[in-house]
Amino acid sequence: MRPSGMNHPPETCSLNPPDRLLMGPGPSDVHPRVLQAMSTPLVGHLDPVFLTIMTEVQDLLRYTFRTENRWTIPVSGTGSAAMEAAFANLVEPGDTVLVPTNGYFGARMESMARRAGGEIVHVHAPWGRPLDPDDVRAALASHRPAVFGFVHAETSTGVLQPDVPALTAAAHEAGAMVIADTVTSLGGVELRVDEWNIDVAYSGGQKCLSCPPGASPLTLTDSAFDRIRARREPARSWYLDIGLLESYWGDERSYHHTAPISNIYALREALRLVAEEGIEQRWARHLKVAGALIAGLQEMGLEMLAEDAWWLPSLNAVLVPEGVDAKSVIRRLLADHGIEIAGGLGDLAGKIFRIGCMGHACQPRNILMLLTALGHALQQEGARVDVSTGLAAAAEALG
Ligand SMILES: Cc1ncc(COP(=O)(O)O)c(C=O)c1O
Repeated sequence: MRPSGMNHPPETCSLNPPDRLLMGPGPSDVHPRVLQAMSTPLVGHLDPVFLTIMTEVQDLLRYTFRTENRWTIPVSGTGSAAMEAAFANLVEPGDTVLVPTNGYFGARMESMARRAGGEIVHVHAPWGRPLDPDDVRAALASHRPAVFGFVHAETSTGVLQPDVPALTAAAHEAGAMVIADTVTSLGGVELRVDEWNIDVAYSGGQKCLSCPPGASPLTLTDSAFDRIRARREPARSWYLDIGLLESYWGDERSYHHTAPISNIYALREALRLVAEEGIEQRWARHLKVAGALIAGLQEMGLEMLAEDAWWLPSLNAVLVPEGVDAKSVIRRLLADHGIEIAGGLGDLAGKIFRIGCMGHACQPRNILMLLTALGHALQQEGARVDVSTGLAAAAEALG
C-alpha cells in the first residue's frame, strides 16, 4: 500500500482477521461469551450500573487469586501495566530490590524497579530452572532488600516456580515484601495468594483467563497498601499511582481516569467462566490437557526444556530438534494450519518452541490438532518424528 498522507485517506477494507488457534505465549483464544460481552453497549465509568460491575469484577478477582485482599483491582493496560503498578508503588528511590535472573520477565522486573529508583541485586538461576529457596535465603541475608520479586510462571522458559511458601517465608523473615508475577499462572495453574503469603501479585488477562489484553489483575495485602501510603515521595507514575487509583477503585468511586469499559466487561465475563468451572477444576483441566500434550510431544520424540518437577502446564517449552529451523516450522503452522505458537526469546531463540495451553484454548481437540500439525511441519523440515504414536499417547492421557 502506498503511503497515503493527510490528503488521501488510506484504502482499507472491512476488518476480517483470519481464524487462528492461539497456542503461543499469549494472547490465547478468547471464549465467544467474552467477545460478546465486549460488544455490548457502553455505560459511563461512573454509571451506577458500572459501579456494580466494578464490585463484581473485584469479587471475581478475589475468588480467582484465592485472596480476601480488599485491594484487588483490574489495572488499565496490559500485564506490564499491572507489573509497573506493583514496582512503581512498592519501590521507593534508594530501596534495595532483589530480582531473579532465570528468565526474560525477571529482567523486566529489574528495568521497572530501576526506573522506580530501586538499587538492584540479583538471585541467580539459569534460564530453564526455577529459583532455589536456599539461594533466595542467601541473597536475602546478604542484601536485606526491601522488595523481592519473582516470576511464578516464566513464559520465556516454561518454568513454574515450585514451593512459593518457602520463598515468601524467607522474604518475610528478612523483612522484604514479595511481588509475584502471576501473568501466566492466574486462572490456569495453582496459585493461592493468601495461603502462600504473597504481598503483591499481578497478572494479565490474555493468558489463562482468555481475555483480550487491556485490563490486568492486581492484588495487594493491607500491609503492602500501608507501605504505599507511607511512601516518602509519590510514585513516579501518576497513571499507576495506587494511592490515587484508590479514589476510583476504593469506597469513593470517583474519577481518576476513564476505565476501559469494554475490557472490564470482557474481564468480568472471563472471570465468570472461571467461577462457573471452579478454580480448582480449571487448574486440574490445565494439568490434564497440557499433560496429554507433553505426553504426545515426548512420544513423538521431542524433549522438553524444563524438568518435570517444574513443568509449567500453561506454557510448554519444547526443544527444537537438531538441524530444524524453528522459524520455518512456526511459519508453516500459521500458514498451513492457522495455529500460532512461538519461538524462544534471547539465548533460547531458535532452540525452543513455546506452546501455550491456556484457558479457552486448553482443550483436548486443540492439542490433538496441534500435535498433528506440528508433527507434519517438523517432518516437512526434515525431523524424524512419529506423529501417530504421539497422537496415541496424547489420546490415552486424555482418557
Ligand atoms: C510472565 C510475564 N510477565 C509479564 C508480561 C507482560 O505482559 P503484557 O505483554 O501483557 O504487557 C508477560 C507477557 O507475556 C509475561 O509472560
